[in-house]
Amino acid sequence: MKGVVAGLVMVLSALAGFGPGKTARAVPAVYVLGDSSLDVGNNNYLPGESVPRANKPFHGVDFPGPGGPKPTGRFSNGYNVADFIGAGILDSTDLYMMGARKIGIINVGLSGCIPMVRAHDATGTCNDGTNELAAGFNGALESFLADLAARLPGLACSLADGFAHRQALIADPQAQGFVNATSACCGSGRLGGEARCLPTSNLCGDRDGYVYWDWVHATQRAAEMAAEAFFHGPAQFTMPLTFKQLAEKKGADLMEQ
Ligand SMILES: *[C@@H]1O[C@H](CO)[C@@H](O)[C@H](O)[C@H]1NC(C)=O
Repeated sequence: MKGVVAGLVMVLSALAGFGPGKTARAVPAVYVLGDSSLDVGNNNYLPGESVPRANKPFHGVDFPGPGGPKPTGRFSNGYNVADFIGAGILDSTDLYMMGARKIGIINVGLSGCIPMVRAHDATGTCNDGTNELAAGFNGALESFLADLAARLPGLACSLADGFAHRQALIADPQAQGFVNATSACCGSGRLGGEARCLPTSNLCGDRDGYVYWDWVHATQRAAEMAAEAFFHGPAQFTMPLTFKQLAEKKGADLMEQ
């Protein structure tokens, strides 16, 4: 799992040239730091054999952007959640030093339920221990951000609950239009969770019906739904503001105008 999810990726992107639209205009510029779930192709430029890359089919099989469909380096059939919003995490103090005053963070996801982890269970259920580790980290993250906001004048943070969003989705996938919330659309072995997405993998037909694109990452559809929730609400998935409210917040933002 380490090789797939841990490779830290730094993405700098001006939203002006940024794909899917709708939410883009409200946000003047976004710095995205995160793992492979947010990578928009940077891994392709990192040296080394061991870097996981999404530069071959069936990645990008539904990529609607320029020259698509094509593999773009995104671990998705199309766009990912960074495309749909843009979010930031990690050393918030350093970002603050660079002038950032609005920080949107997505917490650690429901990692015990990804196909890669489920595949290890005889009945294919989620691994509670893994989810408890994520939940423990997320609890600490919440306190850390509250403390940070209190210490750094003019800083506004929005913490998106990716963990709870995925939990709600998995609890009732049909309600959100998904037919399969357990298996990878592109993969092989049990639940498609025993190998990464390769040109030789099985590929599902109904990509929008799947929550998981590969053994770790969300499909474009699932990423879009999460981005929608973090940007527009419902409020239960962001604390204390939605990403839209954060982007529109006036006053302390030194970077604005
Ligand atoms: C999910 O998809 C996999 C194969 O892609 C299939 O084996 C499994 O039965 C599906 N599960 C549901 C609940 O449809």
